[in-house]
Amino acid sequence: MWARAAGRLGVIVSPTFCVGSSESNEADEGARGCERREEREIEGGRCRGSRHRRTTRRSRLAIPPSRSTPRERLPCLPIRVRVLLVTSVEWVFRIWAHFDVLGLDFRLPSPPAAEPFNAEPHRSALVASYITPVDFFYKRNHGPIPKVDDLIRYSVSISGLVNKPIQISMADIWALPKYTVTATLQCAGNRRTAMSKVRKVRGVGWGISALGTATWGGAKLCDVLELVGIPKLSSVTSLGGKHVEFVSVDKCKEENGGPYTASIPLKQAADPDADVLLAYEMNGETLNRDHGYPLRVVVPGVIGARSVKWLDRINIIEEECQGFFTQKDYKMFPPSVDWDNINWSTRRPQMDFPVQSAICTLEDVDVIKEGKARIAGYALSGGGRGIERVDVSVDGGKTWVEARRYQKDNVPYVSDGPQSDKWAWVLFEATLDIPPNAEIVAKAVDSAANVQPEKVEDIWNLRGILNTSWHRIKIQNSSCVGRSKI
Ligand code: MTE
Repeated sequence: MWARAAGRLGVIVSPTFCVGSSESNEADEGARGCERREEREIEGGRCRGSRHRRTTRRSRLAIPPSRSTPRERLPCLPIRVRVLLVTSVEWVFRIWAHFDVLGLDFRLPSPPAAEPFNAEPHRSALVASYITPVDFFYKRNHGPIPKVDDLIRYSVSISGLVNKPIQISMADIWALPKYTVTATLQCAGNRRTAMSKVRKVRGVGWGISALGTATWGGAKLCDVLELVGIPKLSSVTSLGGKHVEFVSVDKCKEENGGPYTASIPLKQAADPDADVLLAYEMNGETLNRDHGYPLRVVVPGVIGARSVKWLDRINIIEEECQGFFTQKDYKMFPPSVDWDNINWSTRRPQMDFPVQSAICTLEDVDVIKEGKARIAGYALSGGGRGIERVDVSVDGGKTWVEARRYQKDNVPYVSDGPQSDKWAWVLFEATLDIPPNAEIVAKAVDSAANVQPEKVEDIWNLRGILNTSWHRIKIQNSSCVGRSKI
């Protein structure tokens, strides 16, 4: 255990963790692989008054089209030159880290950004691999990204309606059995920009990539709760606690400078099969700062807002969390409700996400040659429900073809099958003849036979959350415009 702990503590003297001030709006890893998005009122797909950059063809081409890892993306140089290159870069970092240890930091601090850091990758990166590389994983923050770098002093308190409140250190967490869970995190605002085309909505102008699938490693929350005397499968504590609240280190303007918070029912938190994790690893590596280092909550099958990063405290409480993001945000209202007649208390906080799918290999308005084209994308549902079917149409939804679904290589995907990752997306593909000026559509059906709604108008809501309408892409035929993209 101590070897493991020493390995992990190593990250606090690594160069990456010495950069910048104690908190910053900028991501630790920068926008590498992702394009920045900002929070605004959005109308007709445009962010009003935003500094939001449009995707240029050049930046789109910068995304690797295949499963290549950053190491594989090294240019094809002779092996000796590559070794020399890697060794010199390593020595630059070693010297850099050495000066840091002496308290000398020669780097210029980056100027703070006006807005919290939010970014999503180009859609083609999502279907390049089943597990999303960390660089291509979307980032959603409501406040500046905090820097928690003193792991010796870092601890999480667990208190509230429990008989024996405690403080646990990272060493206590590492000492618990480690589980890995492959789960998709999806922001409730994914696909918001398409909803804004119907009517103005408020929020980050996300495209279709505010989600990603990672293999999270950490302790199960139910094991952690046992440390304060809450048995597995409890739904209420002897002191009347029914919800588990997570309080973070970061501070948000929506909370008037207070911490980001969320809660889940104790029933879910204490259920080993719900796989709720206190995660310290992402894709086999120490969680990075952007995604919640050193410890974050991962609540599989539930909107990303409940997976609190940079965990500071756990409170066992009677009612659900009263914080802004549980009570005054992330609730689904009907299309008749707008900002002048909203009553937040009339709706429940959103938990599970509904069935969703999107096409990632094409976009509006792509110009393609007549003939066959590969239509591929992702499909997922919340609450651990699998994907029973993905239907694809090339004529705007008049006729449909069933797409092939897959997760892992050489394992046929069966929705709710024992070998399937129940908390993760399913990728799909179909190669179809594309008629002139086609409208390509995808819709998924989950294992409870829930189907995506056809029209975005029917599910419009003022915060622009949960746009799960059929995903449509308009295609132009190259013979009509005289140029080809593929
Ligand atoms: N946790 C904290 N502490 N602060 C935040 O702003 N954002 C939430 C959630 N957890 C947030 C947070 C939201 S809205 C989402 S969608 C996910 O984190 C995004 O996680 P990611 O940035 O690791 O992709």
